[in-house]
Amino acid sequence: MEYEDRITATKLNDEEKTVELTLRPKKLEEYIGQKKATDNLKVFIKAAQMRGEPLDHVLFYGPPGLGKTTLAGIIANELGVDIRITSGPAIERAGDLAAIITNLNENDVLFIDEIHRLNRSVEEILYSAMEDFALDIIIGKGPSARSIRLDLAKFTLIGATTRAGSLSAPLRDRFGVVSKFELYNVEELKTIIKRSASILNIPIDEESLEELAKRSRGTPRVANRLLKRVRDFSQVKGNGEIDREITDSTLKSLGIDEMGLESLDREILRIIIERFKGGPVGIDTIAAAIGEERVTIEDLYEPYLIQQGFLHRTQKGRMVSDEAYLHLGIINPVDAKLSID
Ligand code: ADE
Repeated sequence: MEYEDRITATKLNDEEKTVELTLRPKKLEEYIGQKKATDNLKVFIKAAQMRGEPLDHVLFYGPPGLGKTTLAGIIANELGVDIRITSGPAIERAGDLAAIITNLNENDVLFIDEIHRLNRSVEEILYSAMEDFALDIIIGKGPSARSIRLDLAKFTLIGATTRAGSLSAPLRDRFGVVSKFELYNVEELKTIIKRSASILNIPIDEESLEELAKRSRGTPRVANRLLKRVRDFSQVKGNGEIDREITDSTLKSLGIDEMGLESLDREILRIIIERFKGGPVGIDTIAAAIGEERVTIEDLYEPYLIQQGFLHRTQKGRMVSDEAYLHLGIINPVDAKLSID
């Protein structure tokens, strides 16, 4: 299956982009969870407004699908300014960044998703833009080349990344506010699904809310996607209302188990158990055995497996827990030996 087609994929497809826009909260008070990040931001937003200055540059990091773009939109809305949304890979040359940045108005927000994927040369001109609100641009080539300095409107850069560790130190140091996004708990996801169901006019019972929340791997984007798929099943096979029966059968058809694991999650655990005696084993070795890239495993699969307590990161490598053996129905040889002794 194509990676982006999976039900638990965290990238949005085009249809979802439209729906997600209607589901996105616009105000801080509508935003659920990430309390640590939002409590602080409330203060910083208010202080910036009182001083009539732009908010300091903000870096969001954490797994995809947790609402980083949504929160950036809310910040701009709360500040009463415009937001321009782009991404690291979309800005290929320094000129692309210059075109965007010179069009910003005073106190506007520039959101750069996947900021760790910015080109080196682009990143370098971003430094002076962030620090001095000026762009140093080289005009011409060879001996006649000269540098000119363009003054910019004071703006706020909000950068988002799945991996704070892969940001260069000079870029990371230029963010005044750094917020880590955590996976959501079941209660928070229930509230998010309930809100989405109400906006989309989908009748859903309490049990189904709970079940969908438990199986959304801590990620609102997955939760909203599951909700839409259950709605599909309910329309075609049921009466349009979502109950426990239709929820369970949908999740079963999608290959999502009762802990919210999909086949690749289970494959990762199984390989560590069957080929590497439960670990510890290095992430590169796991990636090679599964045939996925290391970053895919680190960014998309591990956070949830760790949050659920199936996997541990140790100095020597990854180890599965007793719960992982139990969940897969495999007997842990260590336990078996103990009971024989
Ligand atoms: N949609 C995505 N993330 C959300 C959040 N944290 N609160 C409400 N709706 C969301």
